[in-house]
Amino acid sequence: MLHDVEAVVLVGGKGTRLRPLTLSAAKPMLPAAGVPFLAHLISRIRQAGVRRVVLGTSYMAETFSEHFGSGAELGCEMEYVVEDQPLGTGGGIRNVAKHLTAETVLVFNGDVLCGTDLTAVVDTHRRTEADVTLHLVRVLNPRAFGCVPTDADGRVLDFLEKTEDPPTDQINAGCYVFRRSVIDSIPEGRPVSVERETFPGLLAAGARLSGHVDNAYWRDMGTPADLVHGSADLVRGIAPSAALPGPAGEALVLEGAEIDPTAFVLGGTTVGRGVRIGPGARVEGAMLFDGAVVGEKAVVRHSVIGAGARVDDGAWVIDSVIGDRAAVGAHCELRGGMRVWPDVQLPPHGVRFSPDV
Ligand code: GTP
Repeated sequence: MLHDVEAVVLVGGKGTRLRPLTLSAAKPMLPAAGVPFLAHLISRIRQAGVRRVVLGTSYMAETFSEHFGSGAELGCEMEYVVEDQPLGTGGGIRNVAKHLTAETVLVFNGDVLCGTDLTAVVDTHRRTEADVTLHLVRVLNPRAFGCVPTDADGRVLDFLEKTEDPPTDQINAGCYVFRRSVIDSIPEGRPVSVERETFPGLLAAGARLSGHVDNAYWRDMGTPADLVHGSADLVRGIAPSAALPGPAGEALVLEGAEIDPTAFVLGGTTVGRGVRIGPGARVEGAMLFDGAVVGEKAVVRHSVIGAGARVDDGAWVIDSVIGDRAAVGAHCELRGGMRVWPDVQLPPHGVRFSPDV
């Protein structure tokens, strides 16, 4: 158990790729499988035995403390450190330094859903006497990410940008173990990127950077497609989480939702509080935020329907995001990563494939 380790979670990003959802909530506070995404991450940290979690906040900073408070409900002590101006990932870590007391610090990007064994990552850090240890995950398509090659001893050799021909399938998973003194060496009071500045700088200076490589479940929840798939994996138990508010299964149905018995709801769908789903509707691998309405024979697949938004009778919403309180008129067809902004009302019978409205 990691009782002598503290955790820092970076939650200050604006989440621009998730707009319009992140206009009304910070990315880590968006509901995934019925609770703020961050609750899943904190429960994993807590399960590993870490008792103190410091959040580095900036965008919509107050919403974190309003929801999680002292952390008592999650069984840990939570502290919140606000950046006056966004300091980036490295600057965010530096900014919380004076609030840390442990010699070994686990640092997380606040938008990653991951099943790795945190104790094993810290063990690698200690065994290799590293300055920083990075969790590296093996992925099928490393071309979409920066790659981090390591040698036979697990020593990090390089940080490579995205390339068509990556030399390794190991990517930076957004979870690190820092020796406390390394955090103190990050420049203070200005934006710093840990990936682009701190890590390459440490490597050039001869520091020991270790990689802890595994094939754990891993997903960066930064885009609508990833958010929807990650949430469905949580609901179905593919991505295990102690914070799931119900048993794993095809659908998670929260209080007050009304689903017509002739509707199909499957594929890891979350049905939010007070949602209504009409007769013959088909809802698959979707996130229906609180108060959303899906009409008769409507189809919603791999999409987010915002709070209080409506998908009217016979409409199709595929791979799309419908903002809070927006309405998709009857028999409309939306596909191809469409994003409908909050409060927009689409008239019936429209067919749209991007751009956004
Ligand atoms: P996009 O705008 O969609 O790229 O999202 P983002 O702003 O969250 O950026 P990104 O996904 O690259 O951020 C990775 C992690 O670092 C997320 O958990 C962010 O919340 C966090 N982060 C990014 N920028 C900052 C910052 O300036 N301060 C702090 N404290 N955290 C940040």
